[in-house]
Amino acid sequence: MSDKKPGIHTLAIHAGEAPDPQTGALVPPVHLASTYHLGTAENGAAIFAGEKEGFVYSRWGNPTVAILQERVAALENAQAALCTGSGMAAIMTAVLNVVRAGDHMISATTIYPSAYHLFDVELRALGIDTTFVDATDARNVAAALRPNTKLIYLESPGNPILALCDFEAIAAIARDADATTICDSTFATPINQRPLDFGIDVVIHSMTKYFCGHGDAVGGVIAGSADFVKRCADAPLRYLGGILSPLNAYLILRGTQTLPLRVERHNANALAVARFLEQHPQVSWVSYPGLESHPQHALAQKQMRGFGGMVCFDLKGGVQAGARLMNSVKLCALAVSLGDARSLITHPASTTHSVVSREQRLSQGVTDGLVRLSVGLEDAEDIIADLERGL
Ligand SMILES: Cc1ncc(COP(=O)(O)O)c(C=O)c1O
Repeated sequence: MSDKKPGIHTLAIHAGEAPDPQTGALVPPVHLASTYHLGTAENGAAIFAGEKEGFVYSRWGNPTVAILQERVAALENAQAALCTGSGMAAIMTAVLNVVRAGDHMISATTIYPSAYHLFDVELRALGIDTTFVDATDARNVAAALRPNTKLIYLESPGNPILALCDFEAIAAIARDADATTICDSTFATPINQRPLDFGIDVVIHSMTKYFCGHGDAVGGVIAGSADFVKRCADAPLRYLGGILSPLNAYLILRGTQTLPLRVERHNANALAVARFLEQHPQVSWVSYPGLESHPQHALAQKQMRGFGGMVCFDLKGGVQAGARLMNSVKLCALAVSLGDARSLITHPASTTHSVVSREQRLSQGVTDGLVRLSVGLEDAEDIIADLERGL
């Protein structure tokens, strides 16, 4: 074997794994144990004192979950990773590892609506103040800095309008202000972008989406420096308790093996669908970072290696046209979530974004006729035919 770092397909299949030492099984066992034999009193004392590694209790660490953590760290080019029970648990754990009551944070406006609610309502009630800014322009981030700003939170591409954040520019602003940067990179996956390579401190994912890829497990992950990840594990995660179950870790590990292959096809299918929609008379605009018409296409080319499987577009007929399309499509499933093998379609104004006011929704670019499409792995012609019929 050469010393060269393995490629992304190899890492997705092998990182973190070795044949089971007891049985030789190539597929990692699902360790369901909640507690582990400490061996001897001395061994237990050494583990508790942090002098020795060892599993003690599955809320603190689990062997199946540990494999997935190592794999995500390898894919993200991170020192370490920590799995959580959902993407929201990853966001909450990573954010609470940085901010305390009295601190200020800056967040991009275009983020997953539940993350917006978490910052705007739940964390505000705990004394953590968030300023939301249009982070497509790094100058807005710089202008919102305060002496007590501890965190800059980004999502890129941002849900659902696929707005991008300039990682290098925002990471430089954060470094000067001594603030930590966290980026939700769920839409991109490490196959299409690695924010840490551009100076971002911490990446989080909802692994419910592309990592799992088959719509049958909920999970999340935080990746970053060994120190950041250890602090997340030792405090917020251990005490909040939002851990990933071993069975879900197994399912997500299996999905991860084909992540690079699936993402390549998601990228190709989404570009074909976006090009079709762009010329359709019922569509007023299409947002896809891979289209020349995307306002940040140049930035996408700089910091992304592929443009992802998410496409969003606006229908000329507003809410009614959105509802009509949802009721007309047959192949695309009317369902929230994204990143599955099957295509999923939603009308955010009547579903995911109905939890925020119309004013706030419009400020996030979520217009009445906006449709979000998670382009699946079916034949692109069949997805296009389904949309064409529906439109
Ligand atoms: C971009 C993004 N981040 C985070 C989440 C939350 O993930 P989970 O549902 O796994 O908690 C979602 C869910 O849709 C999402 O789309």
